[in-house]
Amino acid sequence: MSIPKKDAVFDLALRPTEWADYIGQESVKSNLKILIEAAKGRNEPIDHILLYGPAGLGKTTLANLIAKKSGSQIRITSGPAIEKVGDLASILTGLAEGDILFIDEVHRLNKLVEEILYPAMENSVLDIIIGKGPSAKTIQLQLPRFTIIAATTKIGSISSPLRSRFGATYRLDFYTKEEIEKILERSAALLDVLAEKEALELISKVSRSTPRIANRILKRVRDYSQVNGSGMITKKLAKEALELMEIDEIGLERADIKLLETIIEKYSGGPVGLKTLAASTFEEEETIEDVHEPYLLQIGFLARTPQGRTATKKAYEHLGINFSEKTLTTKS
Ligand SMILES: Nc1ncnc2c1ncn2[C@@H]1O[C@H](COP(=O)(O)OP(=O)(O)OP(=O)(O)O)[C@@H](O)[C@H]1O
Ligand SMILES: [Mg+2]
Repeated sequence: MSIPKKDAVFDLALRPTEWADYIGQESVKSNLKILIEAAKGRNEPIDHILLYGPAGLGKTTLANLIAKKSGSQIRITSGPAIEKVGDLASILTGLAEGDILFIDEVHRLNKLVEEILYPAMENSVLDIIIGKGPSAKTIQLQLPRFTIIAATTKIGSISSPLRSRFGATYRLDFYTKEEIEKILERSAALLDVLAEKEALELISKVSRSTPRIANRILKRVRDYSQVNGSGMITKKLAKEALELMEIDEIGLERADIKLLETIIEKYSGGPVGLKTLAASTFEEEETIEDVHEPYLLQIGFLARTPQGRTATKKAYEHLGINFSEKTLTTKS
């Protein structure tokens, strides 16, 4: 067996760099292929692209893949990393013709920085204000033609002037069980580990339809199988490993269960506001919104109403709590 490399190295190694290895998201892929081909044919940089969808579905991977396929250099930054207008100005002036600038978490860009981005995206110009007050002057710098690929988990938090400056916007969706299985097969091969098909099916089932989670669990199951077996990932070992990790049969972890239990037990099933929920579960609001909620909403365990979050009948059933008792307590 080969010497195990560090997980971080494998995270990069698992990242698909060819269309064929980027499983699923078929419609997004078809659209992007056309976008790239057409831009190449015109010898122009591709249009600005906005990618959105829950964490771990492959936005960063896709941005890198687009860069590779369009033969462009990619520069990577993120909304919170660009604190000042000057930070963005120096990034933009450092770009070369045809470069791609990837801005992750674009919903966290500050407003002043965002405003510099508008003319840069529209006309490849950078407006620099020199001086202050009435004597301030604007000078305009011509930038090379470039492409922005932005990613966000919160499309609703992006201002409409920014959103409208992207030529193409794509939503990444949760993956099917079969797609995750394919991703796991490929990852297992890259990790140089043998796995029973049923073991990968089991991991797929608890992956919350998310490639990043699937790969993460696969690595932990591999560790477990190496220590407690011969190294081959069997269904039995996978099951034991999942129990040890406290991941239940549909992929919920302790924190997800606690969140649901809190809504049900402390707030009679809701509605309860995000702030209150964060305070009662000792979780960050952001963690609840980005990590726990998307999947709970997707599987219909949570509902979001203007008054707050509500646990659904399905959630009660999964936790083995009687739903009709809830109706009685709320009515009385
Ligand atoms: N379509 C796919 N096919 C195969 N593997 C994928 C696919 N999408 C994602 N992955 C795997 O999942 C991991 C997570 O993907 P990535 O980092 O691109 O997610 P992300 O959407 O950028 O998440 P975040 O919003 O948290 O930044 C990657 O390292 C890659 O190995
Ligand atoms: Mg990412």
